[in-house]
Amino acid sequence: MKSVNIHKLTVSLGAKSYPVIIGSGLIKRNEGEVHLPHFKGRQGVIITSETVAGLHLDRLQDLFAGTEYKVTPIVIADGEQYKSQETLFSLYQQMYDAGLQRDGFVCAFGGGVIGDLAGFAAATYMRGIDLLQVPTTLLAQVDSAIGGKNGINLPVGKNLVGSFYQPRAVISDVDFLETLPEDEFFSGMGEVLKYALIAGDDFVTFLEMNYQEILAHNPKILAGMLHLCSRIKADFIARDELEQLGVRAILNLGHTLGHALEKAYAYTGIKHGVAVAMGLVFTAYLSVETGSLSDDELQRILGLLQLFKMGLSVPAEVQGEELLAIMARDKKVAADSLKMVLLRNIGQPFLCTEISPDQMLAAFEKCKQPL
Ligand SMILES: NC(=O)c1ccc[n+]([C@@H]2O[C@H](COP(=O)([O-])OP(=O)(O)OC[C@H]3O[C@@H](n4cnc5c(N)ncnc54)[C@H](O)[C@@H]3O)[C@@H](O)[C@H]2O)c1
Repeated sequence: MKSVNIHKLTVSLGAKSYPVIIGSGLIKRNEGEVHLPHFKGRQGVIITSETVAGLHLDRLQDLFAGTEYKVTPIVIADGEQYKSQETLFSLYQQMYDAGLQRDGFVCAFGGGVIGDLAGFAAATYMRGIDLLQVPTTLLAQVDSAIGGKNGINLPVGKNLVGSFYQPRAVISDVDFLETLPEDEFFSGMGEVLKYALIAGDDFVTFLEMNYQEILAHNPKILAGMLHLCSRIKADFIARDELEQLGVRAILNLGHTLGHALEKAYAYTGIKHGVAVAMGLVFTAYLSVETGSLSDDELQRILGLLQLFKMGLSVPAEVQGEELLAIMARDKKVAADSLKMVLLRNIGQPFLCTEISPDQMLAAFEKCKQPL
């Protein structure tokens, strides 16, 4: 059986440009379509987690089996706590033991944790070797595998060490999502909804019309949805690769409150995408509060989130003042006012610096009410 519904796009970065290949059946044992980029040398490692290795590693190894490339799997324990200095240095050692030279390559095979960790290992081992991203969670496929951001956590905070290092290619096969736990799927949907609000009417209408198929994991529709998200991410990366021009910052829509919620829950009590979905509700209320969004648009946004069972209220025990203090310590602070991405309309995000604490608290209180 041939793979179906292949979408291909390019992240345009001059000499560093690379393809993102999206589809169902791309990586199928002995019968999928192989889309490996050209690597400098033949020796590579597949860096993956115990969970993904148990479910899908033999299928990925088959992808390399009929090629000139020789790959050694490196399997690490599963979890955000392993995005650490200790795991990174044990990776370097295992890469060295596998015979990886300057012309070797890394295939990052897993969710965002693996993508960030293996991406940073590839960026730094022998001053940088080739990288292939094969993401297996919805969040990694729509977001973290594209754009070159990588890194590890320090005991004092998340993602404090890292780099921008673009892969040679991203291969996103929606078939991997068949084994993804539902809560991880919804975590990725938080990012998908963010992209829709950034993109505008066409994407929102696509989601409104196809939500049942998406929730039923129809591979054709999922591949279409991934394509829409990846195109937006690729466009922002091409315009502001190193996040220096304020363009890539728009992708933080919903994330200022989302990050504060994750921090308030010590990164264990709430999934990233769920926090982002609450952040999107907050953004919508705040955009109405500051006069940039109409009530009709607000209702459409809340309706969209509800279709995906993500119209979630912020738990009553979370205090607005506490979140505001966390946000004020966040890097998005400019003088006395917070810098946040708000919406003028669906599809018209903008960076706003004129937000008062009272407006924030008023919007936050609305987020505690059931939608
Ligand atoms: N680099 C970026 O631009 C960027 C952007 C957003 C998030 N991130 C990072 O991504 C990480 C979160 O990524 P995530 O949400 O993918 O979490 P994750 O990598 O922890 O994966 C979630 C869980 O799903 C499991 N899993 C992965 N694929 C599976 C599959 N196909 N079937 C069954 N189980 C599977 C994993 O083993 C893990 O237990 C965070 O560390 C975050 O900082 C990075």
